[in-house]
Amino acid sequence: MPVNKIPLLESCNASLPTELTETLALLNLPLCSSCPAEDFYLSCENGSLVLISADGEKVRPTLTRPSRFIGNQPFLRALAPARGGTVIDATAGLGGDSLRLAMIADRVIAIERHPVVFALLASALISARNSSLSMVDKIEAHFGDAIEVIRQLPAIDVIFMDPMFPAKRKRSALPPKSVRILRDIVGDDTDDEKLLRIARQHAARRVVVKRPLHAPPLADDHVALHAGKVVRYEVYLPTRKQS
Ligand SMILES: C[S@@+](CC[C@H](N)C(=O)[O-])C[C@H]1O[C@@H](n2cnc3c(N)ncnc32)[C@H](O)[C@@H]1O
Repeated sequence: MPVNKIPLLESCNASLPTELTETLALLNLPLCSSCPAEDFYLSCENGSLVLISADGEKVRPTLTRPSRFIGNQPFLRALAPARGGTVIDATAGLGGDSLRLAMIADRVIAIERHPVVFALLASALISARNSSLSMVDKIEAHFGDAIEVIRQLPAIDVIFMDPMFPAKRKRSALPPKSVRILRDIVGDDTDDEKLLRIARQHAARRVVVKRPLHAPPLADDHVALHAGKVVRYEVYLPTRKQS
């Protein structure tokens, strides 16, 4: 079950950058003066937001220059038409892929619909900017459902999406802690096929879907599959809008 109402520790408002507190106010997060330890809540450390999970684990989203990027050939091959252009990251999450996209595109429109994930993304972008990671300036974060936001934008060359996929049950294959906690609050993105359909109606050149290797392709009519060790990038061509 997704968890949407996660409170923010009230005292954080005094120690977070004004730009971030303004975003948090728009997201309408509930506040708690002493947050219940048995539940998720948002706290702050060194001017950034931290998500505290029910068992006390912390997710501190940080965006640092991707070091293994050069070797990430399947990503580069799948996203080649985004080079020097504008790309939409329709499922921005904590911004890791948005940052990789910013290394090849001139502009990245990063869309996230979960209010708490969006708050963490906004915090990570502000912290990265303050620590002089200049490529984050190419990323524009939008709060909302990409299915709606994309419809309001002009056609964009490339749309990228990385929806949640049900986890493998085997313990050895458990994803990293931050991904597990994210999954706990977001749940599964069961409307991923609809997002792909809308994305294909609005992309001018291609839609790229990132999927775990163990997952079946999101649709049958992909024109290319670029597989890495853990994930695969599926390439879909645009379709005509149904009137
Ligand atoms: C697997 S995570 C993405 C991780 C991201 N690629 C990263 O590098 O951090 C999927 C995210 O997409 C978001 N999402 C899924 N469908 C969406 C939609 N239609 N509009 C906006 N966000 C969506 C979920 O809320 C979740 O945060």
